[in-house]
Amino acid sequence: MQIPVRLGVRSYTIVVEPGSLAKLGDHLRPLGLGSKTALVSDAGIRARYGGPVTESLRTAGFSVVDIDVPAGESAKTLAVASACWDALVDAKLDRAATVIALGGGAVGDVAGFVAATFMRGMNFVQVPTTVLAQVDASIGGKTAIDHPRAKNMIGSFHQPRLVLVDPLTVVSLPDRDFRSGLAEIIKHGIVLDAAYFADLERSIAAMLGRDPGTLERVIGGSCALKASVIERDPEEKAEIRYTLNYGHTVGHAIEAVTGYDRFTHGEAVALGIVAEAHLARRIGLAAPETIARQEALLRAVGLPTRVTGLDPGRILDAMARDKKARDGRVPIVLAPEIGRFRVVYDVGPDQVRGALSTLEGA
Ligand SMILES: NC(=O)c1ccc[n+]([C@@H]2O[C@H](COP(=O)([O-])OP(=O)(O)OC[C@H]3O[C@@H](n4cnc5c(N)ncnc54)[C@H](O)[C@@H]3O)[C@@H](O)[C@H]2O)c1
Ligand SMILES: [Zn+2]
Repeated sequence: MQIPVRLGVRSYTIVVEPGSLAKLGDHLRPLGLGSKTALVSDAGIRARYGGPVTESLRTAGFSVVDIDVPAGESAKTLAVASACWDALVDAKLDRAATVIALGGGAVGDVAGFVAATFMRGMNFVQVPTTVLAQVDASIGGKTAIDHPRAKNMIGSFHQPRLVLVDPLTVVSLPDRDFRSGLAEIIKHGIVLDAAYFADLERSIAAMLGRDPGTLERVIGGSCALKASVIERDPEEKAEIRYTLNYGHTVGHAIEAVTGYDRFTHGEAVALGIVAEAHLARRIGLAAPETIARQEALLRAVGLPTRVTGLDPGRILDAMARDKKARDGRVPIVLAPEIGRFRVVYDVGPDQVRGALSTLEGA
């Protein structure tokens, strides 16, 4: 499956194809890039998937310099970015060269930040290997490192020249990470596409069994939905981009008050979806059946839909500090029906408290 992302001169293609890791060189050649590449990855991913990628690049006539970064969020620091710049200088890479990110969203974010800043911007290619990175982080051009006081605080928009998704890589993901990525997939269905959501409902067993054909269809479908949002709003300036934030206003607050260690991002988003679904019902926007379908799908893929011990007051405080807040008002995207969205700006704290209390229920 090839998904065009139409952004004028910054247009690119998302290739979603089982086994495509070994064809990266073939996909890069027609883009007219320089012959030098830097392959940024963590040691574990490089050992598992670096071989076919490097071989296909060399066969297609590209040179490859390896740049290792730490695994996970600890890659997203200024020190790691700086070490990457050093490696690019040492290898004499110029603006025609290409930085390739092979790994999860953290590798993609720091490698993208390095590509955006080195010589004021060089070519960048994403080869995401987690569900979350394939359907979310690799698409949209957001790059970032963390500030000691806030995640993703330093960064820029820098669109990739190509996103190459090999759905077979997610077969090696630990179960918890795999299910967490499904939260973003379910999010896309709820606010953007009723037929896609119904396909997810029918495909639960095949998804959880990581059936290759199902992964290709579901991951590819989600990439296409995110791409359609990016095309309409490449720099996050309009309401449509808020759709990608469904479940995240409450989800981010849950992550913050639980110290980022009780739940994975996807688990917190699943709880956020449940709370925001109930919020839509409380304000008369959505019918009970719409809420029930969202909860049932999340539960069926093994994501949490209930939680105890959260302090609603602290969640409300954390929501007020949301990055999307404008003049003290936090826009919340809600789903009036499966496949549709509405952004609301003035939900009262009592309504939010009420919705949060449903998370405690049976
Ligand atoms: N730029 C964006 O638009 C955007 C969007 C969403 C999230 N993000 C960022 O993405 C990051 C989270 O990404 P993530 O969930 O992919 O986790 P991650 O990048 O932190 O990776 C988690 C772990 O999974 C391992 N891993 C990666 N692929 C694997 C595979 N196929 N098999 C086995 N292990 C594998 C990694 O080595 C790492 O140890 C966060 O930093 C977040 O801020 C960015
Ligand atoms: Zn998310």
